[in-house]
Amino acid sequence: MTGVIGFLPESVLAFAYLIAGILFIQGLRDMTHPRTAIRGNKISSLGMAVAVGVTMLWFEILSPLVLLAALVVGTGVGTWLAITVETTEMPQLVGLFNGFGGGASALVAGAELIDLFNQEGAGALGADLTAAAAVAGIIGAITFWGSLVAAGKLHGVVNDSAVRYTGEQVVKAIVLLTALAGSAFLVVQPDLFGAAPLAGWIPAYWFIVAAASVLGVLLVIPIGGADMPVVVALLNSYSGLAAATTGFVLNNTALIIAGTLVGASGLILTVIMCNSMNRSLTNVLFGGWGEEAESEEMEDIYEGQIMSTSPEEVEMLLDTAQRVVIVPGYGMAVAQAQHAVAELADLLDENDVDVEFGIHPVAGRMPGHMNVLLAEADVSYERMRELEEVNPTFSQTDVVIVTGANDVVNPKANTDDSSPIAGMPVLNVSDARTVIVNKRSLSPGFSGIPNPLFAEDNTNMLFGDAKDSMQELVNQYEENH
Ligand code: TAP
Repeated sequence: MTGVIGFLPESVLAFAYLIAGILFIQGLRDMTHPRTAIRGNKISSLGMAVAVGVTMLWFEILSPLVLLAALVVGTGVGTWLAITVETTEMPQLVGLFNGFGGGASALVAGAELIDLFNQEGAGALGADLTAAAAVAGIIGAITFWGSLVAAGKLHGVVNDSAVRYTGEQVVKAIVLLTALAGSAFLVVQPDLFGAAPLAGWIPAYWFIVAAASVLGVLLVIPIGGADMPVVVALLNSYSGLAAATTGFVLNNTALIIAGTLVGASGLILTVIMCNSMNRSLTNVLFGGWGEEAESEEMEDIYEGQIMSTSPEEVEMLLDTAQRVVIVPGYGMAVAQAQHAVAELADLLDENDVDVEFGIHPVAGRMPGHMNVLLAEADVSYERMRELEEVNPTFSQTDVVIVTGANDVVNPKANTDDSSPIAGMPVLNVSDARTVIVNKRSLSPGFSGIPNPLFAEDNTNMLFGDAKDSMQELVNQYEENH
C-alpha cells in the first residue's frame, strides 16, 4: 500500500471495509431468492460503492481526473450494456464481465509488483507477495482469455464445437509448467527474474501472464458450446480467486473479501448446474456433449407419429380442464412470451382452473432464467413449482402446456443410457392427460438430440412462435369466456 493520504485514522478504513463486506454478504444472501434478488443487487452495489469510495479517499492511486474519467467510461459502458443486452445474451455478457475481472486482477497485481520493485528494490518483494502476484497473474490471465473464448462460443463468433487434437493434454501441461516455472523463479529470485526486465526485454511477470493467457485459450477451446454456461460459472469463480489473490498483493481487505465471496459463489453455482444436468465437472471440462454427435435420425422417431393442433383446439381442451401446468423453456425467453403466458395463467385462474408453472433448474440458459422472466410479467412465486414439487402432480394434471422448452422435458434422459442427457432430471410431463408442445418446428434443443415426447400418443404439437401462439390462445380463451 503506497501513498496513504493519512488524514483519517486507519481504523476508519478498516471499518468501512468491514461494512462493505457485510453489505456484500447480505446482498448475496438476498440474491438466493428471486423475490429479494433485486434488493440483493442494490445492497451489493452499495457495498462496492463504499469500498471504492473509501479506497479513493484513502490512497493516492490515480489522479482524481483519471479516476473520474475511468468511472464515467465504465459507468457509461455498463449502463449501455444493461439496457441493450437481451436476457438470452446474459451468459456471454456475464462471461465478458468475468474475463474483465480476471484481466484487471492480473494487470493490477503486476503493476503493484513492478511499482514496488522500482521504488524499493527486490528486497521489498517477499515470497508471500511474489507468490500471490504469480497466482493472481496465472488465474487472472486464464480467466480473461478463457472467458473471451467462452463468450465468443456462446455468441457464435468462435467455433462452438469441441476442438480436439492429438497430444492436447501434453500441450496444456507444457504451457502450465512454463507458467509455474516462471512463477517459481519470480518467488525465488525476484531480483534476477522477478519484476526486473528479462534480458532488458520484458518484465518476467508478464512472461508468466503470457503463458497463462495461452493456457486460458487452450483450456476452453476443446469444450463444446453446449457446456459453455457451466464454464462461464466456473470462470466466474476463477475471477473471484484472482481478485482475492490480488487483494493479498495490495494488502486490501475489501478485495480479499469480495474475491473470496465471488470465488465461493461461482463454485457453488457450477456444482448446482452440474448436478441439475447430472454431469460431473470433469465430464464438462474434459469431454461431453459438444463432442458426441447424435447419430439417430429424427425421422426414425417422428415419422407418422406427430399430431399437430391449433389454438382453437387447445382452447377447447382448456375449457374442460381443472388443473393446468405451464412449462416454460428457452424459446419463451427468445420469443419474449412471458407476458402472454402470464395473461393466460391469470385467465385460467379467474375461471377456477388450478394453474401452476413447472420450472426446471436449467430451463433457459442460466439458473433462474425462467423465474426472472415470469416474475417480470407479475407471475407470483407461489405459482412457480420446482421440478421435485411438480413432477408428482403431473398424473393429476389435465393439460400441460410446454412452451419453448425441449431438453428439460425429454424422456430420453430417463430411458436412454447412451443419450448425452442420460440421468439429467427432467419434467415428466407425459404423465399428464394431454401435453401441448408449443415450438416452431421439430428442431432439437440445446443438447442437439431428438425428443420422443413429441411423438407420444397424448402429445399435440402447437407449431409457432411462443409469443404469437400464447397470444392467440389468450384471445381465443377471452372470446369464449
Ligand atoms: P432447449 O432444450 O434449448 O429448447 C428450446 C426450444 O425452444 C428449441 O427446441 C426451439 O425449438 C424452441 N424455440 C426457440 N425459439 C422459439 C420461439 N421463438 N418460439 C417458440 N419456441 C422457440 O431449452 P430448454 O428446454 O429450456 O433447456 C435448456 C437447455 O440448456 C438444457 O439442455 C440445459 O442443460 C441447457 N443449459 C442450461 C443451463 C442453465 S443454467 N439454464 C446451463 C447450461 C446448459 P424451435 O426451433 O423448433 O422453435
